Amino acid sequence: MSDLKARIQGVRDTFNEALGHVEGLNALEELKNRYLGRKRGIVKELLTDLRSVPKELRPELGQAVNRLKQAVETALAEKFEALKSGEANSREGGIDLTLPGIAPELGALHPLNVVNRDLIRIFERMGYEVAGASEIETDFYNFEALGISKDHPARDMQDTFYISDDVVLRTHTSNVQIHLMENRKPPFKAIMPGRVYRKDADITHSPMFHQVEGLVVGEHVTFTDLKGTLEHFLKKLFGTQTKMRLRPSFFPFTEPSAEVDVSCIMCGGKGCRVCKNSGWLEILGAGMVDPVVFGNVGYDPETVSGFAFGLGVERVAMLKYGISDIRMFFDNDLRFLSQFN
Ligand code: DAH
Repeated sequence: MSDLKARIQGVRDTFNEALGHVEGLNALEELKNRYLGRKRGIVKELLTDLRSVPKELRPELGQAVNRLKQAVETALAEKFEALKSGEANSREGGIDLTLPGIAPELGALHPLNVVNRDLIRIFERMGYEVAGASEIETDFYNFEALGISKDHPARDMQDTFYISDDVVLRTHTSNVQIHLMENRKPPFKAIMPGRVYRKDADITHSPMFHQVEGLVVGEHVTFTDLKGTLEHFLKKLFGTQTKMRLRPSFFPFTEPSAEVDVSCIMCGGKGCRVCKNSGWLEILGAGMVDPVVFGNVGYDPETVSGFAFGLGVERVAMLKYGISDIRMFFDNDLRFLSQFN
């Protein structure tokens, strides 16, 4: 039966072809089973079919199948060795420790966290402790105790998120001042970072943003102390070339109060688009703690004095990194965030 003879040759050809495509040990094992498997292996099938061949042809064809079987076994064994030695480089298995690895992408601190951390560090080195309080706050701590009366415009429904008549999402970190003073005796110095909320949303305002509050109370704390502290802080933050200027201002919880400007960090004070050609950037609010506030927390305004300040973290980060849209901080777009590695 030359039919079987042709099949033997055909099997040889397809085997060789298939072997050429094998790239890994798993595929080789699979090929081996397909051809030499005890039950349904292709070679086994040929041997079975041999039984139905006329007797006189059997020896020759039998030898041919055996030669095929041996050839297949040898080829598989050789391929196995080849794959084993080159296994490390094969796609299907093994590890080559000498190959360059795939570096996992590293995470980075969020730019707001970087700035927040920097701000806190500067004050910690001046001996400030870090304090905090709830973001959900009563009217008393967020407003009343800070001298913000019921009819103060800061309470406007348009600015404040009210949870109930008496409970708000804090509109600033100044609430922490009150909690701190209620629980502590002077003297102390504290820095108070945290999230605050206002109904305000545009390119430079976010309904949730971050502030850092500062408070120093003691017996002879003066406006000069405030000035020196802020000047040191701003030079640490923006560089030693930074200049500071104070402008008279008003806050319900400080008297006197000041807006604090820094020389423009973009143009160094010459005037540019960022500082609207003024050479100055408004960076924080500050003042001497109002004696009324001391009275509200049970301190004696006759013996205790202090200063306070507050600044927005997003504003500092936008200036520092030249970011013009505050929403970028909260979009969680990796193309943005990965630049702060
Ligand atoms: N709480 C003020 C605000 O959110 C910022 C501020 C100004 C805080 C002056 C202070 C301060 O402690 O003395 O706009």
